[in-house]
Amino acid sequence: MVSKKPRIVIIGAGMAGLAAANKLFKSTNSKQLFELWVVEGGSRIGGRINSSEFCGDQVELGATWIHGIQGSPVYEIAQESALLHSDQPWEVMDGFYSREQITVAEGGYELNPSFVQPISTLFKNLRKFSEGKPVDGDGLSSKIVKRWSNFGPGNLSVGSFLRHGLEAHWSLVKDQKPVDGVGNWSRKSLEEAVFAMHETTHRAYSAVDDLWTLDYNAQSEYEMFPGEEITIARGYSRVIESLASVLPVGTIQFGRIVEKIEWQPDGCSQELRMKDGDDGRPVKLQFCDGSTVSADHVIITVSLGVLKRGIDQDCNMFIPPLPSLKIQAISRLGYGLLDKVFLQTNRPIIKKPMISNSLLANGQEALEVESLSDEEIVNGFSTTVSNLLSSKSQDESDEDSGDGKQLKFDKVLRSGWGSDPLFLGSYSYVAVGSSGDDIDELAEPLPENSSDLDSPRSQLQVLFAGEATHRTHYSTTHGAYLSGIREANRLLKHYNCDVV
Ligand SMILES: Cc1cc2nc3c(=O)[nH]c(=O)nc-3n(C[C@H](O)[C@H](O)[C@H](O)COP(=O)(O)OP(=O)(O)OC[C@H]3O[C@@H](n4cnc5c(N)ncnc54)[C@H](O)[C@@H]3O)c2cc1C
Ligand SMILES: *[C@@H]1O[C@H](CO)[C@@H](O)[C@H](O)[C@H]1NC(C)=O
Ligand SMILES: *[C@@H]1O[C@H](CO)[C@@H](O)[C@H](O)[C@H]1NC(C)=O
Ligand SMILES: *[C@@H]1O[C@H](CO)[C@@H](O)[C@H](O)[C@H]1NC(C)=O
Ligand SMILES: *[C@@H]1O[C@H](CO)[C@@H](O)[C@H](O)[C@H]1NC(C)=O
Repeated sequence: MVSKKPRIVIIGAGMAGLAAANKLFKSTNSKQLFELWVVEGGSRIGGRINSSEFCGDQVELGATWIHGIQGSPVYEIAQESALLHSDQPWEVMDGFYSREQITVAEGGYELNPSFVQPISTLFKNLRKFSEGKPVDGDGLSSKIVKRWSNFGPGNLSVGSFLRHGLEAHWSLVKDQKPVDGVGNWSRKSLEEAVFAMHETTHRAYSAVDDLWTLDYNAQSEYEMFPGEEITIARGYSRVIESLASVLPVGTIQFGRIVEKIEWQPDGCSQELRMKDGDDGRPVKLQFCDGSTVSADHVIITVSLGVLKRGIDQDCNMFIPPLPSLKIQAISRLGYGLLDKVFLQTNRPIIKKPMISNSLLANGQEALEVESLSDEEIVNGFSTTVSNLLSSKSQDESDEDSGDGKQLKFDKVLRSGWGSDPLFLGSYSYVAVGSSGDDIDELAEPLPENSSDLDSPRSQLQVLFAGEATHRTHYSTTHGAYLSGIREANRLLKHYNCDVV
């Protein structure tokens, strides 16, 4: 019989993995009930949290925001560890969206806010309605969204919902007076452009290639914590460091890329347990250097992108393959790409001086940006931004535009989430054709019907955590955190430890 302590191996030292490790360690610290390991493929902790430096500025290449502070466990850690204030804060963008913004049409025409605002309000209300939130006021846009109250189920996408809303707006608003001072733009095409600008932002934040692949019905299931959205002044990575700090030295092993996960769908028979060279633990991990490690329980926290590749015919990460329901869930759920590009310029772009400017790219575009050289990026963005601003600069050459008309960026730093094999994208979404049920299915531990199996160490062999396994908070750091705690608690309960 097996007499050693159960061995728990967590794959991935990101938010989910370290939340689970922290929880397991703290809960059993004095008793030392488990052998606990974290195996990380990369050379740092944090995963999709990656606080970095650019031209003397501190920037976040991955997660940046705490999406709502009330009830957020990430906010709680940041507060307890005094991470929210700093003299030299990381990428301060708080209040970014409420600051006065200008909207510029191609050719440098600055749009009057009184023109932009109604379309922005329409977009905001459509978005809120799709998220199941109350819609502001009782004006035109609430009339429009009411039309959707009895919209039937089916494979409706966010993209199609939004465009129906815009069409409804046009059918109700008869004012087609031309807009002054914007060159050849018609009112309708300008409205369409403003609406499309909001769609682009929404697309980036959902990390989808196309809003037509984002499921409409899932939107109202997604939850946000109430309260402000803020950045972490001393860097997001500090939250991760705080979780890792309780673990004994050596718990986290770096450069350990898991290639194969062998598990026992029918539990672990007595014979197998006694087999030569087998230490009786039901799960075996094989690393890319050929070494192996056995475990009683494995918590997988790798991204949905890594799982998607893992179920590929030519990869077959799981031996035997995952049950078909899980494979379907992994295939159907969406996993997108969002990248951040930081550029340095030595002169102000329109009125406000800026040192470095962060831009977002997503989907297929982002993957293309990742494949370009730094020089190509710097030149490309310099030309694009210069063209966008060209007529603007001529108008205001007296005060703002500096010495030359041509804007030139000097330096670039960008993330590479799509091409990094440890991530293969940025975060998950519910795609048309999938639903929240797929997320729950993904979160189910293996083997199925575990409780029928004889020994407790044959049960709960493979557990799933990570951002993509949280039904209502997927795509966020707190979703990842909560999923790690969930799986740690599952194991603690399994061994009758107190679950707080
Ligand atoms: C650009 C960007 C912006 C974002 N902005 C925000 C934001 O503002 N707010 C927010 O809340 N969230 C944001 N997110 C999402 C957030 O970063 C993630 O949801 C969260 O960090 C995911 O944590 P995780 O533990 O689930 O996965 P990960 O952080 O991906 O951790 C998994 C770990 O597993 C490792 N790994 C992968 N494969 C293997 C293998 N085969 N063997 C061993 N190890 C492996 C990886 O190296 C990684 O360290 C953003 C993400 C990106 C990319
Ligand atoms: C406006 O459009 C006409 C024809 O479509 C074109 O000839 C003209 O150059 C355009 N003017 C501007 C300012 O773009
Ligand atoms: C994380 O940040 C470092 C720089 O600090 C960078 O080299 C690396 O590419 C980043 N990772 C990703 C996936 O963007
Ligand atoms: C929804 O989409 C899926 C996959 O794209 C398809 O199999 C299914 O039949 C569609 N359902 C409806 C109601 O259109
Ligand atoms: C688990 O139980 C369900 C329902 O009892 C059954 O349909 C399914 O085949 C079982 N799965 C396995 C792997 O035994």
